[in-house]
Amino acid sequence: MHVTHLSLADFRSYARVEVPLDPGVTAFVGPNGQGKTNLVEAVGYLATLGSHRVSSDAPLVRMGADRAVIRAAVRQGERQQLIELELNPGKANRARINRSSQVKPRDVLGIVRTVLFAPEDLALVKGDPGERRRFLDELITARSPRMAGVRSDYDRVLKQRNTLLKSAALARRHGGRSMDLSTLDVWDQHLARAGAELLAQRLDLIATLQPLADKAYEQLAPGGGPVALDYKPSAPEIVGHAREELYEQLLAALAEARKQEIERGVTLVGPHRDELLLKLGQLPAKGYASHGESWSFALALRLASYDLLRAEGSEPVLVLDDVFAELDARRRERLAELVAPGEQVLVTAAVDDDVPGVLTGVRYSVAEGAVERV
Ligand SMILES: Nc1ncnc2c1ncn2[C@@H]1O[C@H](COP(=O)(O)OP(=O)(O)OP(=O)(O)O)[C@@H](O)[C@H]1O
Ligand SMILES: [Mg+2]
Repeated sequence: MHVTHLSLADFRSYARVEVPLDPGVTAFVGPNGQGKTNLVEAVGYLATLGSHRVSSDAPLVRMGADRAVIRAAVRQGERQQLIELELNPGKANRARINRSSQVKPRDVLGIVRTVLFAPEDLALVKGDPGERRRFLDELITARSPRMAGVRSDYDRVLKQRNTLLKSAALARRHGGRSMDLSTLDVWDQHLARAGAELLAQRLDLIATLQPLADKAYEQLAPGGGPVALDYKPSAPEIVGHAREELYEQLLAALAEARKQEIERGVTLVGPHRDELLLKLGQLPAKGYASHGESWSFALALRLASYDLLRAEGSEPVLVLDDVFAELDARRRERLAELVAPGEQVLVTAAVDDDVPGVLTGVRYSVAEGAVERV
C-alpha cells in the first residue's frame, strides 16, 4: 500500500499543509527544526494511533489550537480509501473512513501499515523493558488489528486490579479490617484471559521474527551475529505457547503471587512485567553491545518487521527518519539497498548528502512551515 496524499491541520508546527505523494522514494530535506519529522510522524500515527516520539497526543496539537487533523488518501492495489483522524487531547479522538463517521479510531488500524526507523529506536536495545514490549505489541497490532482491543482490555483490567490491590494494601497497613478480596478472583480471570491472548501473540511473533532479525543483522553487519530474541516471562509458571495453556498458567502465577501483591499493592505477574531479552552472540545486547552494534540490532529489528509484514499482507510504507546521518558509510549503503525496492519509502534528512545515492526519487524541501517539491 502507499499514501497518495497527506493533509495536516494544526498538527505539530503545521497550521495547514498538503503533501501529494507518489509510490517509490520521497525525501524531505531541510534544516533542523523545520518540520520534517512532524510529517512522517503523522503517517506513523495513522498506522499505530500513537507517535514514535511522545506517549500522549497533547504535543501533537499545534500550540494554541485545540485539535489536530490528519487526513490521508491511501491506495492499496486498485482500492483507494480516505482516512481522517481528529486528535482531541483530553477528549475522545474521532475518525472517519471514506467520509463516514460511523467508525472508531481503532477501525483505522490496518489501512495504513508502516515500518518506521528513527533515532529513538536505539532505546529498543538500550532502553527499559517497556520499550521492547511496546515494539512487540505494536507489531502484533500491525499483524492483527483486532489485538488493539485485547491490548486495551488488558490495560483497563490491569488498572482496575491495581486500584483494588492498592486499597487492600492500604487497609492492611493501617491495621483496619482486611478487605473482601473475592472480587479479586474475577479480576484475575479477566487479566489472565486478555493476558494469555497477548502472550500467545507475542510468543508467536518472536518465533517468526527471530530468523528474520538474524538474517537482517547479517546483512547489515556481516559476521557480527548471531542475534537472539529471548522472551522472559515474569513468572516461572509461564512456560506454555497455546492460549488455553497460558491462561491456566497465568491464573496459577497470580494465585502464587497474591500474598506479595497484596503487600505491595500492584500486579506483579503478566505481560506488562515480561521482558524481551535481546542477545548478540552469547551476551545481552543491553549493557554489553557497543553503540554501533546496538544501532545495527535496532535496524535489524525494523528490517525484520518489514519482511514479516510484507510477507503476511500489504506492503508497508517504510519511513526512515534521520537515520542515515547516524550510520557509517558501509551500513548506510546496505540499509539503503535493502529499503530501496519498497513500494513507498519516506526519508527525512537535514542535508542532501545524507540521502544515499540509491534512494533517488522525489525531493521536497521543508523550511519555515512550507513543504515544496524541488
Ligand atoms: N505542538 C506544536 N506546536 C507548535 N510547534 C511545534 C509543536 N510540536 C513541535 N513543534 C515545532 O516543530 C519543530 C520540530 O519539527 P520536527 O521535529 O519535524 O523538525 P525536523 O525538521 O525533523 O528537525 P531535525 O532535523 O532536527 O530532526 C520544532 O521547532 C518545534 O518547536
Ligand atoms: Mg527530525
